[in-house]
Amino acid sequence: MSDEKIYDVPADWKAKAYVDAAKYEEMYARSIKDPNGFWGEQASRIDWIKKPTKVKNTTYDPHNVSIKWFEDGTLNACYNCVDRHLPKRAGQTALIWEGDDPKDDKTITYKQLHEQVQVFANVLKARGVKKGDRVTIYMPMIAEAVVSILACARIGAVHSVIFGGFSPDSIAGRLEDCKSTVIVTADEGLRGGRKVPLKANVDAACDKVGGVNTVIVVRRTGTAVNMEPGRDFYYDDLALTVPAECPCEEMSAEDPLFILYTSGSTGKPKGVLHTTGGYLLYASMTHQYVFDYHDGDVYWCTADVGWVTGHSYIIYGPLSNGAISLVFEGVPNYPTTSRFWEVCDKHKVNIIYTAPTAIRALMQGGEGPVKKTSRQSLRLLGSVGEPINPEAWEWYYHVVGDDRCPIVDTWWQTETGGILITPLPGATRLKPGSATRPFFGVVPEIVDAEGKVLEGATSGNLCIADSWPGQMRTVYGDHQRFIDTYFKTYPGKYFTGDGCRRDADGYYWITGRVDDVINVSGHRMGTAEVESALVAHAKVSEAAVVGYPHDIKGQGIYAYVTLMAGEKPSEELRKELVQWVRKEIGPFAAPDLIQFSPGLPKTRSGKIMRRILRKIAEDEFGNLGDTTTLADPAVVDDLINNRQNKK
Ligand code: WTA
Repeated sequence: MSDEKIYDVPADWKAKAYVDAAKYEEMYARSIKDPNGFWGEQASRIDWIKKPTKVKNTTYDPHNVSIKWFEDGTLNACYNCVDRHLPKRAGQTALIWEGDDPKDDKTITYKQLHEQVQVFANVLKARGVKKGDRVTIYMPMIAEAVVSILACARIGAVHSVIFGGFSPDSIAGRLEDCKSTVIVTADEGLRGGRKVPLKANVDAACDKVGGVNTVIVVRRTGTAVNMEPGRDFYYDDLALTVPAECPCEEMSAEDPLFILYTSGSTGKPKGVLHTTGGYLLYASMTHQYVFDYHDGDVYWCTADVGWVTGHSYIIYGPLSNGAISLVFEGVPNYPTTSRFWEVCDKHKVNIIYTAPTAIRALMQGGEGPVKKTSRQSLRLLGSVGEPINPEAWEWYYHVVGDDRCPIVDTWWQTETGGILITPLPGATRLKPGSATRPFFGVVPEIVDAEGKVLEGATSGNLCIADSWPGQMRTVYGDHQRFIDTYFKTYPGKYFTGDGCRRDADGYYWITGRVDDVINVSGHRMGTAEVESALVAHAKVSEAAVVGYPHDIKGQGIYAYVTLMAGEKPSEELRKELVQWVRKEIGPFAAPDLIQFSPGLPKTRSGKIMRRILRKIAEDEFGNLGDTTTLADPAVVDDLINNRQNKK
């Protein structure tokens, strides 16, 4: 691959960054050879109440997967993100909030954050929340989202944040799974000039499941919402009734910090459980090194706090490092497609961390909306959530970054807690489209279908050979599912579910999911979830959902739907089904294309052959592979003839 483009590390980055190429090699080698020594030293980057004497205690043995880091240490995550900065940075900005409307913004200093978090924590306590209780947070991107999350951490409550785009059904499922009795929400959210009925969604969710005894409502738009007496309270009313000070709860390193639900290839979304010490340390260290964060830098991660990227890289990573973290309520194209870059100019953003889908969407508008802004403050660009195609990478680099800013393409997952494969901007030569090299302590392995470890330049399935501190510890309430999902396919290894190529330079190129998970605009979804939403419709008998390449979203959702006997396909029904899925799961899960098909390709034992459906959706039907095991091969011709046009 001699014609491959390589971007060298700029000289000023080499000189100023924490880590240059030589130091990366040295630190990486040490982290692998002596994980106990390496992570034991790193432990001192966070403040402990009781310093751990033990470091790594982990096994991937599929009969008994057990992951513990720093197990005899105690600490508080909120203390690390707020209180410990007060001596030095009480007056420094912690959060810059930029509203949906460009006229709305504010800053919150570490001192103010400290005050607000304590009050919020006392409000939770006053409503009976204790250490270990689960608190559900369904919030727009406002400062109170961050404050409520930190308030949970302060009192040892386990937060379960649900992205504001999820439907009442999805909220209900999550409430039920973690048996949460308290919900924090807002009257409405505001995104791209449109209102999101958050409180109404919470009401609908509470109608479906019992058990919620408190709904705390933060006023965002001020609109009148239904308030259930005895259950629903406005936050500002409660805040007046509690004391100003709230001490931090002493937590064991392995006490749960949060649950975050994520989709897999089968079944309901899993409650990914992260614990306190290892997670915080890993989020903090990756944030510092990957973004080469230095004191005073203005850092902006455009993700929503409802996803893991928001947890680790808006809140826990940056705030534990005493950073200035920008929280953006809006969307990239409102009021105009210059918005991202205007926000950069307005707040003098030095580091921006966003998703390929946003870059591709903005690319469509051409260079004009970018070039009319200055962007001179930008020094580093980040990408996360899905593979970034080289074309989008180059556009990000040349048009947004004016050829001046390295790009860190960071690969990781909800399960990994923090970034695992990534360039370090002062150390790593960049190849557009490659997440490049592993972070400290991370041992990627590429295996074939049988689990044989492949060496050198190769491609296959991506596993991680050993544990790192930020790794998830279990699926909430179902440790066996944790083992079955991640440690059974290739015994003794953590299986990521991603396909991957490694080139001759040892660079990793993530090719996307190899399971039945699709990634639509960086939103991770199980095809099974969309299928069960579709079959819940009275007119649908069967459904199969696959992903197909989509110019902006990365992957689009292609649904094959078989109707109940007597039902007729129509445009109207197509629209109805799209609306149905929006309502069942959330707007981001709406199918892009629906093909009505009288039959689905099945094996004689009745298993749907998704491989064939994927190929047809990708327009690769010349190459369907072996179809001889199909119960009725004629089904395939019908599917091909009636496939949906992608324009
Ligand atoms: C994909 C988001 C290629 C991958 C942090 C992974 C990526 C899934 C990248 C996790 C990247 C994330 N390059 N693919 N830089 N980052 N992915 O749990 O398929 O929402 O398994 O975590 O996103 O999605 P999740």
